[in-house]
Amino acid sequence: MPFPSRHGIINPVKAMRLDKYLSDTGMGRAQARALILQGRVRVEDQTAARPGQAVAPGQRVTVDGRELAPPGPLHLMMNKPAGVVTAQEDSRFKTVFDLLPEACRRRGLCAVGRLDRDTTGLLLFTTDGQLAHRLISPRFTVEKSYLAWVEGRLTQEHVTRMAQGIALKDFTARPAKMEILEPNLARLTVTEGKYHQVKRMFGALGCPVTRLHRERVGPLTLDSALAPGQARPLTPEESAALCQLTRWEAT
Ligand code: URA
Repeated sequence: MPFPSRHGIINPVKAMRLDKYLSDTGMGRAQARALILQGRVRVEDQTAARPGQAVAPGQRVTVDGRELAPPGPLHLMMNKPAGVVTAQEDSRFKTVFDLLPEACRRRGLCAVGRLDRDTTGLLLFTTDGQLAHRLISPRFTVEKSYLAWVEGRLTQEHVTRMAQGIALKDFTARPAKMEILEPNLARLTVTEGKYHQVKRMFGALGCPVTRLHRERVGPLTLDSALAPGQARPLTPEESAALCQLTRWEAT
């Protein structure tokens, strides 16, 4: 699976080996060494000569002329395909972690919330447990937008009922914004993420969901360049937007 690196400002806290530095940005150590030996990596304005050479704090590292995101916490977005479960492992189904490159899996990522097996679209991963916690906590009211295809015809009355908050068996869903895009297709924006919540909300309106796709989490929209099953690291700007939204200063 291609795993594009993104640009960013390099700012390591202490000197470290160049190959480790590169692999900490999300690529495998073997790939990092190969790039160095192919002469594609520069430290400041010098082509790197050895995988073991040191990178000092504040030095700029580029691959093929592009700056890399700094090593440190790793955040990814995935275009989750249907048919895989949001779990570390599963005895029956492929998991979202099975789709990630080995180098990323070794970094100790957790999924930010979960999407059902048949739900597609934007799924975030991070090595920063506190950030993950904040993104799913109802306290931070992070918006999540879904496209929902349903049985039946959606009406303005459904829009009003979603805006009032839908009473479900075990809790009342917070008011949600619904836009009707086609008679059987809506965009629903919610600020919480309880079990099967969106499906249950539409079910309560008498319009069972036939397909669900997440487009957005807070300030992040699914990258349309990601094919189903692909993931990429967040850019520094995207990471900063998540931290700002949840008032989290990553260490
Ligand atoms: N709500 C659901 O019902 N399912 C999902 O996968 C996500 C939100």
